[in-house]
Amino acid sequence: MARIGIFDSGVGGLTVQKAIFARLPGLDTVYLGDTARVPYGSKSAEVVTQYSLRNARFLVAREIELLVVACNTASAVALPALREALAIPVLGVVEPGARVAARASRTGRVGVIGTAGTIASGAYQRAIAAARPGAEVVAAACPLFVPLAEEGWTDPEDEVVRLVARRYLAPFREAAVDTLVLGCTHYPLLRGAIARELPEVTLVDSGDAIAAEVAERLGAAGGPAQHRFFVTDTPARFLTVAERFLGRAVERAEQVDI
Ligand code: SIN
Repeated sequence: MARIGIFDSGVGGLTVQKAIFARLPGLDTVYLGDTARVPYGSKSAEVVTQYSLRNARFLVAREIELLVVACNTASAVALPALREALAIPVLGVVEPGARVAARASRTGRVGVIGTAGTIASGAYQRAIAAARPGAEVVAAACPLFVPLAEEGWTDPEDEVVRLVARRYLAPFREAAVDTLVLGCTHYPLLRGAIARELPEVTLVDSGDAIAAEVAERLGAAGGPAQHRFFVTDTPARFLTVAERFLGRAVERAEQVDI
């Protein structure tokens, strides 16, 4: 039975794991949330790369066959270093998400939202331009979406959610994008609020896109799967919010010092 490793800066990567579960329910997974160091989105590329290498080495020691970098920020800045350091395949969320968006857009006007680190790296902008030469890419960081999702403030009718979404998404309405990449693990939880502001726009979830790529590489896995969860801070908060991100409860997460 294939076993993959998934790491994220914290709990958000569970949205990617949820997408992988949906396609490959029989796949064994080992998840590491670097909850002691979250968020990655506001940190330098050097530091995020250092953390990513540590996370990857921890997971490789658990005999995984493939590594999924669920965190968009880490995917945007640390993928070359991870691929150079590891002997197993490493997949990040940026390229699959960019490819799906490039294909989905009719007009070639594509938006990307993510953390400050992801947007500043230019990784999505480059990947979309490579997948669709001539595309016009509009990108903006939406940092307040992360705490909103973690607090569970995701109801599109909520006044605060509506105001934050309206302010962040106005430039995309003005630029008349027809496709928007949700380039952060937390943003799928705000899908309803984002769709409310941009009703005609196709929303691309990078988690779904990478899950399709994992399924393509590994094929169907049968039988009951085993899932282990590790975190770098004490597990209490992770366990409390995990269900909202994963769509099912996480009974146990082990704290590790890496
Ligand atoms: C973060 O760690 O700041 C959010 C995770 C992401 O970039 O997807």
